[in-house]
Amino acid sequence: MAQVETAVNAPHRLGFLATLRRDTWWVEPAAIAIGLTIFLGYLSVSAFLDGWSYEIGPYLSPAFEPKLHGVYDAWWFSPALFILWIPVGFRATCYYYRRAYYRSYLLQPPACAVGDLGRKYDGEGHFPLILQNLHRFFMYGALIFVPLLWIGAIRGFHDPDQGWGIGLGSVVLCVNAFLLMMYTFSCHSFRHFIGGGLNCFSCSAWTRARKGLWDRVSAWNVNHRLWAWSSLAWIVFTDVYIRLVANGHITDPNTWSGF
Ligand code: FES
Repeated sequence: MAQVETAVNAPHRLGFLATLRRDTWWVEPAAIAIGLTIFLGYLSVSAFLDGWSYEIGPYLSPAFEPKLHGVYDAWWFSPALFILWIPVGFRATCYYYRRAYYRSYLLQPPACAVGDLGRKYDGEGHFPLILQNLHRFFMYGALIFVPLLWIGAIRGFHDPDQGWGIGLGSVVLCVNAFLLMMYTFSCHSFRHFIGGGLNCFSCSAWTRARKGLWDRVSAWNVNHRLWAWSSLAWIVFTDVYIRLVANGHITDPNTWSGF
């Protein structure tokens, strides 16, 4: 009986991966590890793929939005690096992604009621995990990207040489802006930003308005994991799609002539 108690409440005492679970608990952390490695690995490489064009006509890969190339071309590193540290920091410190990579990469623990590596976890009050508390500040930065990505998506309807039109790439860019907006607006820190720190929701028109918004954000927040994965997968898809069009591998169906 004592061993059952230990296996349920403190499985690490029985050893790494020790568990009484009979389900396929390892599928989720394994799938997350594979997904994060593929998507984040691709985006890391993409930031340096200057030789494989990432822009054509009205389409610009969102990994390079806002458009800084042409301004800093003399600099030796990718213009994406001016931009990506904010969304990368935002995702790296995200409450959902923390859970995901603590389990899938750090195995600390790999799943509920499964033995971990035995390292002592004492919260996020010390270096380096205390840096996770920067999340709210990355969230402020991420909020700037919401309108920037929509500007890029709307620009996807206006070819510099041929004027207004629409193509599959325009739609892909809009979906990308929408998913990244929803990922940002469903953030736990954003939810606190909207409705936190209030002692009374009904005391004034201002607090009642915040309560209304907080209810809306709370509903989005329930699906934060869905927005996290869909926005990550879609930005990879968008970057790949635009590069394939820009480099002549596929043709974008559109109302313009060309590309
Ligand atoms: S909690 Fe995931 S982005 Fe803030």
